[in-house]
Amino acid sequence: MDITPHVNIVSPQFKVNPFPFLAGLRTSQSVYRTTLPDNTPVWLITRYEDVAALLKDERFVKNRRTGLTEEQLRKMHWTPPMFRPLERNMLDLDPPDHTRLRALVHKAFSPNLIGQMRDRIQALADELLDGVARKGQMDLINDYALPLPMTIITEILGVPTSDRHKFHKWSQVLVSLSSPNVPLRVIPSVWMFIRYLRRFIRNRRRDLRDDLTSALIQAEEAGDKLSEDELLAMVFLLLIAGHETTVNLIGTGMLALLEHPDQMDRLRQNPSLIKTAVEELLRYASPVFMSTERHAREDLNIQGVTIPRGGMTLGVIGSANRDETVFANPDVLDIAREPNKHLSFGQGIHFCVGAPLARLEAQIAINTLLRRMPDLHLSVTPDTLRWRPSMFLRGLETLPTSFGVTVPVKNQ
Ligand code: HEM
Repeated sequence: MDITPHVNIVSPQFKVNPFPFLAGLRTSQSVYRTTLPDNTPVWLITRYEDVAALLKDERFVKNRRTGLTEEQLRKMHWTPPMFRPLERNMLDLDPPDHTRLRALVHKAFSPNLIGQMRDRIQALADELLDGVARKGQMDLINDYALPLPMTIITEILGVPTSDRHKFHKWSQVLVSLSSPNVPLRVIPSVWMFIRYLRRFIRNRRRDLRDDLTSALIQAEEAGDKLSEDELLAMVFLLLIAGHETTVNLIGTGMLALLEHPDQMDRLRQNPSLIKTAVEELLRYASPVFMSTERHAREDLNIQGVTIPRGGMTLGVIGSANRDETVFANPDVLDIAREPNKHLSFGQGIHFCVGAPLARLEAQIAINTLLRRMPDLHLSVTPDTLRWRPSMFLRGLETLPTSFGVTVPVKNQ
C-alpha cells in the first residue's frame, strides 16, 4: 500500500530539500512507484546497495528501443525522425555498441591527460574571478561555476567557445525536461542544436585540428568504428554532460560550504583537504541526483516490489549517498570524510567518463575561490534561492554572493 504523498520529483520545490522524503522511502518503501508529470510510471530505487546493484544489473537495458514492449513504444510521444541520431549516444546504448563507442573517448579523459589541463583550468578560474573582482558581487553560477566547465569542454571538443551561450540555451531546455518523452515545445531547441552541430562537424571535416572532434571524425572516416550519427551523438553528449553537471558540483557544493562556515574555514585554512572535500561535496550535493533511466528486460522483483517488463527505473543517487547504513551521520557535511564511497559518478559500465575532469575542475574552482575571496558570503537568504527543474540534476538557477576583499593572483 502506498502511504506516501505524491511528490513531483522533477519540480524545483522537490529539489529544495528532498532528503527527509527520501529518508522516509528508504525505511518504508525503498522501491517506490510514482509517476512523472506526463503520467509515465517510474520506479525509484532509494537504498545504497540497491542503487549500486541497479546500475550494474544486466537485467535492465539502457536502449529503450530494445527494452520497451511494442505497446510501451507505441505510447511514447512521437519524436521527429531527425532526432533519431541522438539516440545513438553511448549513455543510451548497451554492449556491444556502448563498449565500442566508449573505447573511442575514454583515453581522452584519463586522469593523466586531464592532469595536463591543470594550468589551463587554473588560468581560467583566475580570469573569471578577475572579471568580477571590482564589482564586489557575483552570481556564482553564471559568472563562475557555469563558464568554467563549459569553456573547458568546448576547448576539448574544438567547438567555438564564443557560441557557448547559444548551445547552453538549447541544452538547458533539454535538461529541464520532466520526462524522457520529448514534448513538442522542445523541438525547436533540439532542432537548432542538431543543425549547429552538423554544421560544426562539416566544417571541422574540411579543417581537422588537434581536438577531440577531429579525432572522432578521423575514426569515423577510418572504417567501422562509429557512424556519422554516432559521431553527432557523441559530441552532443559530451558537450551537455561536460558542463550541465559540473556547474552543479561547483554551485551546489559552494552553497553547502557557505551554509557550513566551519567547514569552509577549515578548507580555507587547509587547502590540501580539497580532494576529500570535493568527494564530500559530490556525496552531500549529489549534482546528478538520479541516474539516467533503465528499463527492465523482464518482470523483476526488487525488495518485494514487481517492476514490470519495460518499466522505467531510476537509481536515486542523492538518496544512496545519504544512506545511514553506509555513511555515518549522512546529513552532516564533513570535508575530511573517509572512506567516502559515494555513487555520484554512477557504477559499472556507464561510470562517468568525465569524472577525472569534473574532479579537477571542482578542486581548482573551489580552492581558487576560497583563496581569492576570503570574505565571500551569500547575499540572499538560502530560502529564496531557486532550483532548476530537471529529471536527473539538482542545481541552482543562480547563487548571488558578495565579497569585500579580493586577493590578486600575483599576491598568492
Ligand atoms: C560533477 C560532475 C559530473 C557528475 C556528477 C557526473 C555524473 C555522471 C553519472 C552519474 C553518470 C552515469 C549515469 C548512469 O549510469 O545513469 C555519468 C555518465 C557520463 N558522464 Fe558524467 N558526470 C559529471 C561530469 C561529466 C563530465 C565533465 C563529462 C564530460 C567529459 C561527463 C561525461 C559523461 C559521459 C559521456 C557519461 C556516459 C558514460 C557511459 O555511458 O559509459 N560527465 N556521469
